[in-house]
Amino acid sequence: MNVLLINGSPKGDASNSMRLASAFLDGMRDAMPDIGLRTMAVSTADISPCKGCFACWSKTPGECCMHDDMTGVLKSEKWADVTIWSFPLYYFGVPGPLKTLIDRQLPTMLPFMVERSDGVGNGAHPSRFDRSNKRNVLISTCGFYTSKGNYDAVTGMFDHICGRSNYETVFCGQGELFRVRELRGKTDPYLIVVRQAGREFAAAGAIGAETRGRLSEPILPKETYEAMADASWGIDKDVAAGKAEQSGQGGKARASAPQALAFTRQMALLYNPKSYSGTLRVIEMDYTDIGEVYQISLTEQEATVVEGRAATATTVIKTPFELWQRIARGEIEGSQALGQGLYTVEGDFSLMLHWDSVFGTGDGSSDSATVRKSSRPAARPPLMLASLLPLTVFWACVPIDATLGSMVVLGVCALEPLLLHRHELTVYDDISMAMASLLALAMLAGVGNLWAQPASYLLFGAMWAASCATSVPFTAYYVKALYGGDKALGNPLFMSCNRILTLAWAAVFALNAVVAQVLASTPAHAYSGLVVSGLSLLMGLFTKWFQGFYPAWVAAGRPSPLKG
Ligand SMILES: Cc1cc2nc3c(=O)[nH]c(=O)nc-3n(C[C@H](O)[C@H](O)[C@H](O)COP(=O)(O)O)c2cc1C
Repeated sequence: MNVLLINGSPKGDASNSMRLASAFLDGMRDAMPDIGLRTMAVSTADISPCKGCFACWSKTPGECCMHDDMTGVLKSEKWADVTIWSFPLYYFGVPGPLKTLIDRQLPTMLPFMVERSDGVGNGAHPSRFDRSNKRNVLISTCGFYTSKGNYDAVTGMFDHICGRSNYETVFCGQGELFRVRELRGKTDPYLIVVRQAGREFAAAGAIGAETRGRLSEPILPKETYEAMADASWGIDKDVAAGKAEQSGQGGKARASAPQALAFTRQMALLYNPKSYSGTLRVIEMDYTDIGEVYQISLTEQEATVVEGRAATATTVIKTPFELWQRIARGEIEGSQALGQGLYTVEGDFSLMLHWDSVFGTGDGSSDSATVRKSSRPAARPPLMLASLLPLTVFWACVPIDATLGSMVVLGVCALEPLLLHRHELTVYDDISMAMASLLALAMLAGVGNLWAQPASYLLFGAMWAASCATSVPFTAYYVKALYGGDKALGNPLFMSCNRILTLAWAAVFALNAVVAQVLASTPAHAYSGLVVSGLSLLMGLFTKWFQGFYPAWVAAGRPSPLKG
């Protein structure tokens, strides 16, 4: 199948409508991978307006007296089985240059007048070539919230050109949303439906009723879209409506303030209610460079934006507006900017740790759940248990019975890769298994527990400490899945927090070694295990507290002892 794609937007590649046309084409290719494609952009083509001389009907039948890019367009139209007309709605019609291209179709028609059989208008000109197998698809975006009722002039014209409804249409309101990167979470699902439409068109020659129904659904609710669109102009509605001259502002009032409001509303639109934590959260956006404050309330149903400080904020983000826009556009990583102290966060910091699921396209129930769902069994995140298990078994079993305990350790090390085969194993899991196996073999070879126990703590602690000299400290490997996976490794706060915790745990293991060694030669040696367990328990509690405290401390602009 040959396809000619005509980009009728004066914006060329930046066209919103072309995003839809590309998705439609992708869908066609899904169904027919070997499609032949020619594209032409009206904005860069040299196509002069028709002179109305009728030379193409009299002096040079079928040939225009002007020789410009239209010659190639007409050839491509003959070559194509399907012509896709992609264009914006301009004044309820097609843009002028595209209308020029349509006017220049005259050489393809015969001058004679014939009756129409489809009841469109009163007369037509027959085509010079057989168009019976040619198909046309109109793909267009417009600025109003819905396409409904806005395309009458367009369909009126194409009914005349192609025959009544003898073409497919994808008309979409809210077209300007497609160029807003921050709203991809809302527009991408629409493009998926357009792609499905392309698939159906290529496979069955028409867009199915269900897909057509989904295409007609507005991307955003009418009120939200219109409020956002109005605010996006950075012009005060009342001032523009009449008081502009008196105020001398020409309708331009505090340009950045409405822009910041529109931007904050856009952010709120991305809220994923599935991430609702059970209590109302209020985020305060304090745009320090423009002196504007907005609050976003996150409820079970929606996120609403109010101007000023209306409620008690649970999280306060103090940031230059310009910086927050760059973060939203993906030009700078939010966590990196936070790590560099470019903005600060006060109050509930857990929101920042799960930002992507709160304002993203994930299912929002929990980040780790998202990771697990999307992972194939073989790629499940690493488990810290894999590293702890061999030595924990060693510490628990060997003091009871050195020989039997050592054999249990060897058995666990042999079985562990099998038991945890669905999880990614880290180098630390391998080292732990090797360490525990060697210690167990040493025990079987006659090394006394007096040395083996402290040595095991020291070796294990040394491994944790050594990991801090690498780019990824020990604990970061195991908890990254809870914070967005590998992305968390680029978060300086996450990394410095884990570096501190890993070092602290290494110190606790060293302390365990000392305790085990000191108590071994005293009557209290029976309590050695209890003391060691108590120390680990305390460290566990500290870890839990520190994971919440530290990021919030640094995010509030206080100094960090370590760099990520
Ligand atoms: C001159 C002009 C006229 C427009 N007329 C209409 C219109 O009549 N109805 C409408 O809904 N949108 C109208 N729009 C908005 C565009 O259709 C809308 O921004 C569209 O998404 C642009 O698509 P494009 O990026 O493919 O060019 C108009 C825009 C311009 C610049």
